[in-house]
Amino acid sequence: MKSIEQYLAEIEQFSTDKKEELENFRIKFEGKKGILKDLFAGFKDVPNEQKKEFGQKLNTLKQKVSEKLDSLSASLQPKIQNEVQSDYTRSGFPNELGARHPINIIKNRIIEIFNKVGFSVAEGPEIEDDWHNFTALNLPEYHPARDMQDTFFIEQNPDWLLRTHTSSVQIRYMELNTPPMRILSPGRVFRNEAISARSHCFFHQIEGLYIDKNVSFADLKQIIQYFTTELFGKSKIRLRPSYFPFTEPSAEVDVYWGLETETDYRITKGTGWLEIMGCGMVDPAVLSNVNIDPEIYSGYAFGMGIERIAMLLYQIGDIRLFSENDIRFLKQFSTVNN
Ligand code: PHE
Repeated sequence: MKSIEQYLAEIEQFSTDKKEELENFRIKFEGKKGILKDLFAGFKDVPNEQKKEFGQKLNTLKQKVSEKLDSLSASLQPKIQNEVQSDYTRSGFPNELGARHPINIIKNRIIEIFNKVGFSVAEGPEIEDDWHNFTALNLPEYHPARDMQDTFFIEQNPDWLLRTHTSSVQIRYMELNTPPMRILSPGRVFRNEAISARSHCFFHQIEGLYIDKNVSFADLKQIIQYFTTELFGKSKIRLRPSYFPFTEPSAEVDVYWGLETETDYRITKGTGWLEIMGCGMVDPAVLSNVNIDPEIYSGYAFGMGIERIAMLLYQIGDIRLFSENDIRFLKQFSTVNN
């Protein structure tokens, strides 16, 4: 058997431009019955006082082999590609089409529906200050309604946080623009919630805002009816009184989903009705906060969770699937239409 020094010299000198030879070299050193395996197996028989030195040499040898393999296979790569390209009998590499993420498919569909009636898209930062996420939205410090959205704070005094809703974008937009305005703000939001099949510490929302002269609750109801008919093909809705600090009056929107199948019973808990969003007339205090005169202007706002709607439309039972990046899940959304 050669000494480690001899092997090192052999490795140093070795060079090839043929992949078979490189593979033989690899097997000779790194193979199941290769030299490295042999030498490592012999380690236990080395006298104790020589173990340290022998071990170091062995590691160097192992490293040199892998360096040589890396550098030679890198220089062989173009050659291998050439061989593949000049083999005209080989079948083609299909261009695999990717798929849009289901959250984006649903987001785009919602945007498209509202585009038709004059809404444009406004986006904003995920890291927010207290003013845009809470205070300007009529949620003063220490107001108990802040507890509705358990928040991740990044820094305190002054407060920096991960936005808990995209209503913060509406504040930013109103600060910079004058009515009339019609915007949709889609985006990711964060809440300190336990992760389960039904809730996550981050999810996506899409919120809408319309401010103009003489906007009434009837306009709000009409736009929601239009939206649910377009998205779900269902036009029977009901508004249940609710509370949000930034709207007055406020309501939750339910869509009549029906009770035709087992699934309908399950997802509507036997009632036929499904809650899909919150909405209301923008509170005059919010308009004042962004220097819009509530005596002249009024408006409505609404907000919904995109995951929730995607889960409904695609019958997805677990919200965690959206962020796990499992290719088997994502591939199911590849169609030519989106
Ligand atoms: N911002 C609210 C939430 O995240 C949703 C909402 C938006 C409700 C606009 C009413 C009006 O819970």
